[in-house]
Amino acid sequence: MRALVVDHSAAGRLALGTVPDPVPGPDEALVKIAAISLNYGELPKSDDAAEGTVPGWDAAGVVERAAANGRGPQPGDRVVTWGLNAGWAELRAVPVGELAVLPAAVTFADAAALPVAGLTALRALRTAGVRPGQRVAITGASGGVGRFAVQLAHLAGAEVYALVGSPARGAGLAALGADHVLTGAEGIDTPVDVVLDNVGGSLLAELLGHIAPDGKVISIGATSGEPTPIQPYQLVLNRLTLVGIQAGGDTGADLGHLVRLLAEGRLQPSVDRVDSWEQAGKTALALLDREIRGKAVLTVT
Ligand SMILES: NC(=O)c1ccc[n+]([C@@H]2O[C@H](COP(=O)([O-])OP(=O)(O)OC[C@H]3O[C@@H](n4cnc5c(N)ncnc54)[C@H](OP(=O)(O)O)[C@@H]3O)[C@@H](O)[C@H]2O)c1
Repeated sequence: MRALVVDHSAAGRLALGTVPDPVPGPDEALVKIAAISLNYGELPKSDDAAEGTVPGWDAAGVVERAAANGRGPQPGDRVVTWGLNAGWAELRAVPVGELAVLPAAVTFADAAALPVAGLTALRALRTAGVRPGQRVAITGASGGVGRFAVQLAHLAGAEVYALVGSPARGAGLAALGADHVLTGAEGIDTPVDVVLDNVGGSLLAELLGHIAPDGKVISIGATSGEPTPIQPYQLVLNRLTLVGIQAGGDTGADLGHLVRLLAEGRLQPSVDRVDSWEQAGKTALALLDREIRGKAVLTVT
């Protein structure tokens, strides 16, 4: 089958290649993939990425063969899938607990945008225990995780502070539910209860001074690549909790929840760009260069 493979000589270190078809385990459905999405964290950014491997966390398509144990969706069912690798291929073997069935109204492109970014935002908010009326600051709000986090925090009844790199990067966030779109922590007028942090570095360090007593910081990523000079007494004096989260594993029910929100029009997929997977390298570079606002989706043609 064809698949996107790590190729250090190609633009964006990604190229179409040919790899063996996956062999599903007894609890895995075989899915013919129609659309995939790119996430910052999975893009091959350095020589460390293993040449010839097939990355890919997010993929949506049609079940070609049901799991041998009879569980899960049946041939012809449209599904969205999550996995730790090998999603950027014509076929994917997926444990039946790591997918959700799609209603006809949800396109493959929109569904492919959901898994990692949507699950991460959902699980970060759940970890923080966000309640109606709480103030939630979200860094990297212009990105894939950020745009879902803004929407889900708004749906949870929070007052949302979206932090972005520039006003242009914040376009569309107010319509998604951001009450304040800011380019720096100094714009936070009242201390927030929760920070969902995608960026780390000096921004996170500064935000620690804008959190109410007993507040929570959920560390999702550190896209800035900067060191984060934390003063421990900022945590101590205000009894702050700092916790890291990971999105994956046992995702079926949460994926189903996100698909329902999408189908009901309560969640926007924030797909900023759809290309053919033949353009994967160029699209990956655009994501790394902060040219994408939200999600980049590739169709498997
Ligand atoms: N813990 C987990 O399970 C998990 C899951 C998914 C993602 N992550 C991590 O969470 C972070 C966000 O992921 P994502 O998929 O939303 O990424 P993304 O779509 O690329 O968004 C990242 C955002 O970070 C901001 N940013 C700040 N400094 C940056 C820099 N130096 N280079 C690039 N972007 C910078 C950008 O916003 P502005 O341009 O507006 O500043 C960008 O929109 C990443 O670090 C990723 O690795 C973790």
